[in-house]
Amino acid sequence: TLLSSCEMDKKELLVIGHRGAMGYETENTLASIQKALDLGVDMIEIDVFKIKSGEIMVFHDQTLDRISNAPGNIEEYYIGDLKQVILDGNHRIPTLQEVLKLIDNKVALNIELKGTNTADRVNFITNYYAEKHGWSSENFVISSFNWDELKYTRELNPDRAIAVLTEDEAFDEAIAMAKELNAVAVNPWFKTLTAEKVKQIQNEGFKVYTYTVNEPEDLQQMLDFGVDGVFTNYPDRVQ
Ligand code: G3P
Ligand code: CA
Repeated sequence: TLLSSCEMDKKELLVIGHRGAMGYETENTLASIQKALDLGVDMIEIDVFKIKSGEIMVFHDQTLDRISNAPGNIEEYYIGDLKQVILDGNHRIPTLQEVLKLIDNKVALNIELKGTNTADRVNFITNYYAEKHGWSSENFVISSFNWDELKYTRELNPDRAIAVLTEDEAFDEAIAMAKELNAVAVNPWFKTLTAEKVKQIQNEGFKVYTYTVNEPEDLQQMLDFGVDGVFTNYPDRVQ
């Protein structure tokens, strides 16, 4: 039928909840992640730092002040003090394990490595959840703007899915890095994209997941460009 042939032509667009669903709940909190799950995303994106006492915490900024009642660099905190910090909306900063327990392998998880020296511990924790808690290894994607952390991730784990984040228009470098890492995706800022750039990356064998696309007209444009997925604060806006 016409309908089924249209549907066959339609490309699958991966909907990736940005910091959970930060359009609706405080970013990178359990509430935000639950909201993304409720909205039916395909994947959830979180940011992580390693703190002084060694835990991997789910948080976006280097410093706490923008969305909390506390000052200072998150990497200088010990877990006891950090768990006292109150975020906007009366939330606490979750550990990576708390997030893994909540998502429970229901959707894929993109862990963006922020700060320094996170690759090793994140690899350990994700392997542990794959081996002991039934997570599919394919449900983990590691990304970073810090490509050294991605290189280290690859050294530690030949199978882990890696996405190369880039914020400028230097796509050739990002593609070269993706080849070196045997990555699955190149993730550009949507404002740097054109239909040709999307094709160029895809022709090299990589998916294009673009961030952070919130406005309906931008979402439509990214669909028209043929991207494979979008990071969005409003997962329900993608029809
Ligand atoms: O992974 C895409 C996007 O999250 C990267 O930018 O600043 O939101 O972490 P940022
Ligand atoms: Ca991020």
